[in-house]
Amino acid sequence: MSILGVESVLFGVADVAEHTRFWTDFGLPLESASADEAVFRLASGSRVIVLRHGDARLPSPDPFPGDGLKETVWGVDTAENLQTIAASLAAEVPVTRDADGTVHAVCPDGQPLALRVWNKRAFHSEASPVNTPASYPRFNQHRIWRSKAVPKTINHVVFFSPDYVGSFEFYERHFGFRYVDHSKGSGIFARAGGTYEHHSIFWVNCDLPIAPDHFKFMHIAFGMDDIDEVMLGANIMERKGWKNESMNSSGGISRHRISSAIYYYCDMPGKAGEAEYHADTDYLDDNWVPRAWDFRFGSLLWSNNAPPIFRGDNIPWDMAFDADRASFEPFRKDRPGKRPVEGKLSELTEDDEHAL
Ligand SMILES: [Fe+2]
Repeated sequence: MSILGVESVLFGVADVAEHTRFWTDFGLPLESASADEAVFRLASGSRVIVLRHGDARLPSPDPFPGDGLKETVWGVDTAENLQTIAASLAAEVPVTRDADGTVHAVCPDGQPLALRVWNKRAFHSEASPVNTPASYPRFNQHRIWRSKAVPKTINHVVFFSPDYVGSFEFYERHFGFRYVDHSKGSGIFARAGGTYEHHSIFWVNCDLPIAPDHFKFMHIAFGMDDIDEVMLGANIMERKGWKNESMNSSGGISRHRISSAIYYYCDMPGKAGEAEYHADTDYLDDNWVPRAWDFRFGSLLWSNNAPPIFRGDNIPWDMAFDADRASFEPFRKDRPGKRPVEGKLSELTEDDEHAL
């Protein structure tokens, strides 16, 4: 079975017009808009669909209060594989089907999801070659001049989970997602089998002090051509008045060590979560060997103003290959209730959130 990535996401919001303005400024191509909904379609064919609270197309019951990403629709390569996945799911959780064949279910962690056959589109994406003092592949050429930032793909979605190990194992069991990296105590990165992007989904541990104690949407990341396009998007959003208040202390653009990605976040209206510009991430296949990391070592390669817990020379260089998943054991949910998080993780603050 092969899931190709996120086919679409459904947002439930109070103010459709304000969210439409946000995504338009963010650079998503608008396909259609009315008083009750807006549909944006990316070059890959992925869609961002904005609906008003109470719309019949949104999952019921609502997975969490307020604005946010309420349902993730995964794109499957063939009808046969969709059937296989639906049968697997139905053995564990209730499954419903729409007339068009779309399958819906709710994960044990509370995440509503859907699956449908997806004809993912080929698209053009190009980065400027990078010169160094001894290697200059951009010889006699200037960098690409861009006038707008246009996200091409939905790279990943991120949710808080009350059982992040269990959330990954559910996705592995039914959807064939690959274990990629584990930020110990913080969360697991997993890749859909039909894509090479480092991760398609990340579950953040609800036991962290920064997290709610229930399933909730955190952020969605969009693939950009290169760091220039990320920075151009950041400049445009700032000029339009969109901020990321929670990023004030970390100064905006940064690069993760896990996944190598450049990133910059913008706050969505209505405290719905964050939209991430994302570039130069790792691309990988099944030859990748999963790794387990100390969260402080794995989180940042650099930041122009790292949050306090990620500063200093005392951060241990801590990465181990983890094909046997030994790192999962201390974080398994073997008892109900909120497990206290020990060590440095318990000192995380909201300002540290996006460095994870
Ligand atoms: Fe992200």
